[in-house]
Amino acid sequence: AATLDELARRHGRYFGSAVDNPELTDAAYAELLGREFGTTTPGNGMKWYATEPRRGVFDFTAGDEIVSYARAHHLKVRGHTLLWHSQLPGWLTSGTWTADELRAILKNHITQVVKHYRGKVFAWDVANEIMSEDGTYRENLFYRTLGPGYIADALRWARAADPKAKLYLNDYNVEDIGAKSDAYYTLIKRLKADGVPVDGFGMQAHLALQYGFPGRLPQNVQRFADLGVDVALTELDIRMALPADTAKLAQQADWYGRVTGACLAVKRCVGITVWGYSDRHSWIPSTFPGEGAALPWDENLRHKPAYDAIRQAL
Ligand code: XIL
Repeated sequence: AATLDELARRHGRYFGSAVDNPELTDAAYAELLGREFGTTTPGNGMKWYATEPRRGVFDFTAGDEIVSYARAHHLKVRGHTLLWHSQLPGWLTSGTWTADELRAILKNHITQVVKHYRGKVFAWDVANEIMSEDGTYRENLFYRTLGPGYIADALRWARAADPKAKLYLNDYNVEDIGAKSDAYYTLIKRLKADGVPVDGFGMQAHLALQYGFPGRLPQNVQRFADLGVDVALTELDIRMALPADTAKLAQQADWYGRVTGACLAVKRCVGITVWGYSDRHSWIPSTFPGEGAALPWDENLRHKPAYDAIRQAL
């Protein structure tokens, strides 16, 4: 049978899965990942705490491990992420920085990491989670010290370091039309008008059955495409209150199918990445206690109804 990525490729799209470094030692898991998917995203291996654990001292061990695994299995790599308020190294969060100092730190970080992975990473989540739910800028370290101009700067520095990589802004709770996705719509429109290099909008798509389906996902994907940027679903998972049961798994399957269909309906929706593919390795149970079963394969690497629904939609 064709793999999910082969089915996606018939539509000119990719189907990928995140992977965290320790999971590569799970041979059965790593083998299935390499066979079924066309792209991968390091779950943690390219985050700031991993790549620059001390100021100006770079460590690409974890990211390189993912890149060489990906190369061995013919997967392309989405880079994640250059700038985020979370999982920053202690030296950065505990320091007090002038604007000039922090700007130089950010520029060096982006430049070194993107240069290291030039030709090995086809797209970067340049800035992750920079908006609040109400559509104002998130008050992260960079915003507080540099003001909103840090976003355009980050994109320009990333472009200079690798002119071929696609540059994304990425966030959660932006799948539906609302204050937060409106803020990105306005920002990307402005960035494009100002000639700032932004190529794509990443919708993480960490969905939860209890919050309802983002009903205007198709229209939302379309409006970003109409701005002239690619859209990607970058971290898809659909969690539920445990224990899972037949009804919840059926609803989850329906949602996976609808999300897949929403991407296929818009030419510029370039691909879908699940945030891990099996309930054996998922960030959900530890982050959202009492929730889980969020992925299309179960703990034993067997297909769930969600897998069949994705295939159907592809
Ligand atoms: C998660 C990883 O999966 C976990 O292993 C880690 O402990 C925390 O981060 N949004 C993102 C991802 O952009 O980087 C997060 O990944 C999940 C939420």
